[in-house]
Amino acid sequence: MAEIVRVADERSDAFYREHARAALKTAWAFTVVWHEQVVDLLALEGERTVGTARLRIAASLGHVERIVVDPHFRRQGIGRALLLELDDIANYYNCHKMTIGVLAGGEAERFFEACGYHREALLPQHDFKLDVAMLRKFLL
Ligand SMILES: CC(C)(COP(=O)(O)OP(=O)(O)OC[C@H]1O[C@@H](n2cnc3c(N)ncnc32)[C@H](O)[C@@H]1OP(=O)(O)O)[C@@H](O)C(=O)NCCC(=O)NCCS
Repeated sequence: MAEIVRVADERSDAFYREHARAALKTAWAFTVVWHEQVVDLLALEGERTVGTARLRIAASLGHVERIVVDPHFRRQGIGRALLLELDDIANYYNCHKMTIGVLAGGEAERFFEACGYHREALLPQHDFKLDVAMLRKFLL
């Protein structure tokens, strides 16, 4: 019986990539190069940081992992500008779709809808048992 141990990311990532490649090739009928990267943006007002956003690119998807704007600088278009820059970066890497998961029915969902995202699925009792809406925006 194998011994099961906890390890740092790199060891499991390396094993996963090596062995997942064959499965991916079966699914898409061509060799998939698993290209994954994370991009962080800051919004600056002079020296001051007033917002940040993180994009994870993988499998031709751009996933918005987080976005936050300083409460004193909200409703000035900073969040929308951060998302537009993430779209540009995702487009550059040939992503066809952007995604994010937010608490369903809250202000964040209204913000993303105003920025062109649509609800694609509802995950009931998800984050700490609250419903999460999976939102998407097609880029191509
Ligand atoms: C969500 C958040 C990033 C929006 O940033 P922002 O800079 O205020 O957003 P913008 O000014 O670019 O807003 C663009 C549009 O989105 C909509 N919107 C933004 N905030 C909204 C809110 N609180 N309620 C409803 N609609 C909202 C509006 O239509 C707005 O356009 P308008 O101001 O002309 O009406 C910011 O409120 C925030 O940091 N919230 C806390 C963190 C969070 O919830 N992050 C998202 C999940 S990770």
